[in-house]
Amino acid sequence: MINPLRGMKDLIFEDSQKFVHIVTTAIKIAKNYGYTYIETPILEETALFKRSVGESSDIVGKEMYQFIDKGANDVCMRPEGTAGIVRAFISNKLDRQDATHRFYYYGPMFRYERPQKGRLRSFHQFGCESFAEASVYEDFTIISMVSDIFDALGIRYNLEINSLGDNACMPDYKEKLIAFLESKKESLCSDCNRRIVTNPVRVLDCKNESCKTILKDAPKLIDNLCDSCRDDLDRLCQLLSEHKITYTINTNLVRGLDYYTKSAFEFVSTEVGAQSAIAGGGRYDKLVEFLGGKSTPAIGFALGIERIMDLVELPEQKREGLYLGTLDTTALPLLLQIAKEKRAVQKVYVEYEQKSLKSHLKSADKLGYLKACIIGENELKDKTVWVKDLQSKEEQHISLDVF
Ligand code: HAM
Repeated sequence: MINPLRGMKDLIFEDSQKFVHIVTTAIKIAKNYGYTYIETPILEETALFKRSVGESSDIVGKEMYQFIDKGANDVCMRPEGTAGIVRAFISNKLDRQDATHRFYYYGPMFRYERPQKGRLRSFHQFGCESFAEASVYEDFTIISMVSDIFDALGIRYNLEINSLGDNACMPDYKEKLIAFLESKKESLCSDCNRRIVTNPVRVLDCKNESCKTILKDAPKLIDNLCDSCRDDLDRLCQLLSEHKITYTINTNLVRGLDYYTKSAFEFVSTEVGAQSAIAGGGRYDKLVEFLGGKSTPAIGFALGIERIMDLVELPEQKREGLYLGTLDTTALPLLLQIAKEKRAVQKVYVEYEQKSLKSHLKSADKLGYLKACIIGENELKDKTVWVKDLQSKEEQHISLDVF
C-alpha cells in the first residue's frame, strides 16, 4: 500500500467540507474588501524564494522542496504565496500602472518541516496581498479583514502587532542590537550565534528559554523607531482600539520571513497547541523593487487553513435536494430524464438499484435529501410520481406534466 508522504494528508469528508467552508467564507469577505482572485504557479525559480523570503530564514535554509527539473532549472515548490504574487505583479507589469491592486489567493504550500499537530509539510493558506497603498489605514483595513474572517468562522484569537522599522531606523537599530548580542555571545545558543551574522533581528524570536531571559534586556525595535514608523504604529494602535479590535504589542514579533518592513502582525490561538499562529502578515514595502520591479509599497497576510480546521464548526446542514428511486427498473430512463431537468435548479441523487419503498426512504433520509420521489409500476401507468417531503412528512402523487 502506498501512503501519503510524511507531513502530508488527504482532506476528505468533514475535513474537506471544513476546507470549503473556510475558503468560501474568506473569499466572500475578501471580495467585500475589494480583492480579486489571483492564481500563480506552485513551482517557481528557487532564486525567487531565496531573494524574497531570505537565505537566512529557516524556510529557505532548511525547508525548501527544491530540485533541478528536466531542463536543468533550479526550481522550488512554493513555501508561501507572497513571493510568487509579487513576481506575477512585476511579470504582468502592474508595477508600471499608477493604481492599487488587491488580490486574494488560496492553495497548497510546501515546507520540509518536522511534522507535528498543526505543522504539515504540505498545507494550505488563504491569503491577500495589497499593492501600491502606503497608508497605514491599509494596515488597519487588512488586519480588520482577518479579524472579520475569524469572527465569521467563530474562531477566537489574540492579535499581536509590532513595527519592524524601515531603512531610516533599521540600520542604526541593527548596529545597537548586534553590539548587545556580541556581548552575550557566549550565553546564547548556536542558532542565535549563527543569526547574529545572517539576520540579527531574528535572534529576538529564539524559543530557547535561557536565550529568552537574556534577550529581555536587548534593545527593542519599538524604542528605536524613526518618527514616520512611530507615527504609523501609534495610528494603527489608535485605529484598532477605536474599532474594538483587541491587540497586544509584542516587541519580539519579527516573523520568519525576511521581507517585512514597518507593521507586522500575527493572530494566535490558545486553542490549537504548540503551533499557535493561525495567521500572519505585514508590510513589505521594499520587496517589489528588490525583485526588479518599480518601487511599490505592499502589505498582506496569510492564514493556515489546516491550523484552524479543528476550531471551525460546520454550519448545520439543512436538508436539501431530491432523491429519485424506483420500484421497477423499467422506470430508470424516466428517472434520468427527470434528474436532468431538476439538476438545473437543485441537487439530485439517482438510485439505479430497484429497492423497496421503505429502503429508498431510509437511504434518502440518511443522505440528507429533502424530498424523495419514487416511481413504481402504478406511477408509470398513471404518468405520475410519488413524492414525500422528509421534513414535513407530507406525501403526494403529482402528475408528471407539472412535476
Ligand atoms: P507565515 O507566517 O509563514 O506567513 O504563514 C502564514 C500562516 O500559515 C501561519 O500563521 C500558519 O497558520 C500557516 N502555516 C505556516 N506553516 C505551516 C505548516 N507547516 N503547517 C500548517 N500551517 C502552516 C507567510 O507565509 C506570509 N506569506 C504571509 C504574508 C502574506 N505576509 C505578507 N503577505
